[in-house]
Amino acid sequence: AETHYHEFVIQARPVKRLCRIHNTITVNGQFPGPALEVRNGDSLVIKVVNSAQYNITLHWHGIRQLRNPWADGPSYVTQCPIRPGATYTYRFTIINQEGTLWWHAHSEWLRATVYGPLNIHPKLGSPYPFSTPKQEYTLLLGEWFDRNPMDVLKQALFTGAAPNVSDAYTINGQPGDLYRCSGKETVRIPIESGETVLLRIVNSALNQELFFAIANHQMTVVGVDAAYTKPFTTRVIMIGPGQTTNVLLTADQPPAHYYIAARAYNTAMNAPFDNTTTTAILEYKSASCSTKKGQSSRPILPRLPAYNDTATATAFTAGIKSLSQVKVPTAIDENLFFTVGLGLNNCTRPNSPRCQGPNGTRFTASINNVSFVFPTTNSLMQAYYQGVPGIFTTDFPPVPPIQFNYTGNVNRGLWQPVPGTKLYKLKYGSNVQIVFQDTSIVTTEDHPIHLHGYQFYVVGSGFGNFNPSTDPAKFNFIDPPQRNTIGSNPGGWVAIRFVADNPGIWLLHCHIDSHLRWGLAMSFLVENGVGQSQSVIPPPADLPQC
Ligand code: C2O
Repeated sequence: AETHYHEFVIQARPVKRLCRIHNTITVNGQFPGPALEVRNGDSLVIKVVNSAQYNITLHWHGIRQLRNPWADGPSYVTQCPIRPGATYTYRFTIINQEGTLWWHAHSEWLRATVYGPLNIHPKLGSPYPFSTPKQEYTLLLGEWFDRNPMDVLKQALFTGAAPNVSDAYTINGQPGDLYRCSGKETVRIPIESGETVLLRIVNSALNQELFFAIANHQMTVVGVDAAYTKPFTTRVIMIGPGQTTNVLLTADQPPAHYYIAARAYNTAMNAPFDNTTTTAILEYKSASCSTKKGQSSRPILPRLPAYNDTATATAFTAGIKSLSQVKVPTAIDENLFFTVGLGLNNCTRPNSPRCQGPNGTRFTASINNVSFVFPTTNSLMQAYYQGVPGIFTTDFPPVPPIQFNYTGNVNRGLWQPVPGTKLYKLKYGSNVQIVFQDTSIVTTEDHPIHLHGYQFYVVGSGFGNFNPSTDPAKFNFIDPPQRNTIGSNPGGWVAIRFVADNPGIWLLHCHIDSHLRWGLAMSFLVENGVGQSQSVIPPPADLPQC
């Protein structure tokens, strides 16, 4: 195994998109940031130099960080932020993970432009579980705001209203030629007739789940979230923020140019969303000559599902299975039931500029009616490790305080979650099941839930209210997919299982960043087990202090 050394300088740089130049937070002047190419078993040492004007942290999304929460990155959870002018070096090792992950800023909305791929190849000499593709391409799907994203966030937090939607979706930072001033830079994927390539698709968008398709082509899904899956062919994929999907693509169509396209899958009824389409171009090499002669017309656009096509989205997600049989914990020690959804907090002065949510309220979000509040004077992990009291409590409710018809009309009294920095304690090695139940408070919505520090099994999902006496009988314990991010199902539920074998404090949250900021989050405190091999390692000397 190798150790890879990198320096990531966080700095503002002029970036031109949609005809305008924006001072954009970048890494080493690049947007999107540099790609990390590693092998399973390798180590990474990444020195982050903060030359920007904002506090920042970086998160290595999906890396398990076994016993090493210090390298995980969520600001005020596992570390205090890296101040402007300061540095911090993230050190971690990839243990038994292969596929596509990514990295992104984990403070406020900086991840809108601070992100990049983390591609994990098999160990030297060990092959993929499919025939080796001729080429590999990473496609980072993103969202571009024609404004400083930190200002968009600031305005939303001040007014209590929903944040402005983005102005473009992007593929590797480029909107593509359906947008103004974007044609020349459109991402192009060259392909030889007959060859097969691997596409590593990442949804790094801030707030939007996406449909993705390639005109006239099928894709074969072979992995998600750094785990292999049973190959299956599909014309369209749905991908939530935080998720990754690896597909094989074979050039089996007449030589031509074909659009690769992504646009919104939007389940929140009546909520405004960015309904534009981003494109890249799949270019058959044998078709290029005729293009030069000016004979080619526009590439063909793929047919993407309707924005609210939940049937297609859920059928795709439910079709994903682990490549081989897996070991799902069967006897459950912790049976958790988490409601996930939005809320609306009443204002004392409903007409004030700070109460611009529906009917003079402020938007909020919660799990089990607790709206997660990030600490500001210390990180959870540092406070826990040093025994600093008063930063958090460990009374997060394992079930909702009030049972109700989650997908029916909900009593207004339940619309207002209670703020708190509450953790839920797990014994080392305990077998955990969590059912995430979407609520119809404000709207039904698919919430892509991400758990830090773990890869969990998605054992079941459905619509309506989870039924604890009949639904578990249908759970898949044979080949459920291993993931780090899974949608709750709009107006439905999803069930996951994992063994709490990674001690530390681990954030669980909706990967739609507006929801995260409104409090759709909580944290687990996984206690140390017996001896050093089951305990959190000591913090590095350069860990930022608050
Ligand atoms: Cu990809 Cu807590 O995030």
